Amino acid sequence: MSIFEYLHVVLYHSGFVCYNTACFGMKLSYFMKGWHNMSLVTTTEMFKKAYNGGYAVGAFNVNNMEIVQGITEAAGELKSPVILQVSKGARAYANHTYLVKLVEAAVAENPDIPIALHLDHGDTFELCKSCIDGGFTSVMIDASSKPYEENVALTKQVVEYAHAHGVVVEAELGTLAGIEDEVVVEAGHESYTRPEEVEDFVSKTGCDSLAIAIGTSHGAYKFTAAQCTRNADGVLVPPPLRFDVLEECIKRLPGFPIVLHGSSSVPQEFVKMVNQYGGNMPDAVGIPEEQLRKAAQLAVCKINIDSDIRLAMTGTIRKYFAEHPDHFDPRQYLKPARQAVKDMVAHKIKNVLGSDGKA
Ligand code: G3H
Ligand code: 13P
Ligand code: ZN
Repeated sequence: MSIFEYLHVVLYHSGFVCYNTACFGMKLSYFMKGWHNMSLVTTTEMFKKAYNGGYAVGAFNVNNMEIVQGITEAAGELKSPVILQVSKGARAYANHTYLVKLVEAAVAENPDIPIALHLDHGDTFELCKSCIDGGFTSVMIDASSKPYEENVALTKQVVEYAHAHGVVVEAELGTLAGIEDEVVVEAGHESYTRPEEVEDFVSKTGCDSLAIAIGTSHGAYKFTAAQCTRNADGVLVPPPLRFDVLEECIKRLPGFPIVLHGSSSVPQEFVKMVNQYGGNMPDAVGIPEEQLRKAAQLAVCKINIDSDIRLAMTGTIRKYFAEHPDHFDPRQYLKPARQAVKDMVAHKIKNVLGSDGKA
């Protein structure tokens, strides 16, 4: 092994290095300012600490400047590691370069916390490659809706390319209800992860983390009324997550980071706010926070949250419009919306993930 190959391996496994050009340039500039100012990391070190510390790192979806700012201001003030994730839809909406530059700005503004930039639900090798080449430090290849052997083959192909470029890979086994990979899985047709497959999958693909299906799902309507009971206030109470499946996966993959998608809790105060100010979100329901807290204390190292941020922004903007019908400067309503994102993320970090003070 040459000295360069040796350095590559050591720096890559340190979790602090990304070798694609954009990212490397940024790393170098932070390195010049001092080691502690450097950021945009892979999730390797974050997950190791989270696993051993019994907490999880929040992965929040970003689509625009206010969302990036709200999330990273909360994480920065609470000294929490954070993962900013970009979906295919976010990239189509905001453009790859704009999103990377917004994240780079957040890194510069928050030099003391580790921030990873992750592709959420990549569905092709080409999409993953484009993000790896374009400055991301982590990608998800979600081939969970494909037959097992196809999932293995595509994940392995992405892992080989990603690892050669210092980027880590999340893969998925099992399907969540909701929309994944542009495939709509109806409630009741999701399939839980089969624990007997996880060791074979991880060893064949070499993936760095694994998303599993234990009853969470995407969006603000995670369960049908028929799947729930109702509490005294008429609010839907969902069935519990399948902790037996999670525990079986942990037993078979000791020390390996597990990921939970579809982990918004759909806070009823925001559902009420949306409905009170002209919205219509009947029976929106999410995953109870105490179940996510429990998962975070186990091997779940990454918890994905998007819908709760959407809900916080939408409720806040609807209220603002109702109360200020004469205002038309976008800054007037985007400012409280950004604050609502920040408050929501701060709440998650402190009360659900347990990642405060872990930067
Ligand atoms: O899991 C999906 C995320 O919530 C991203 O949603 O594809 O609408 O951007 P999106
Ligand atoms: P939610 O819709 O529950 O926020 O899930 C987000 C997610 O899993 C993104 O990948
Ligand atoms: Zn997801």
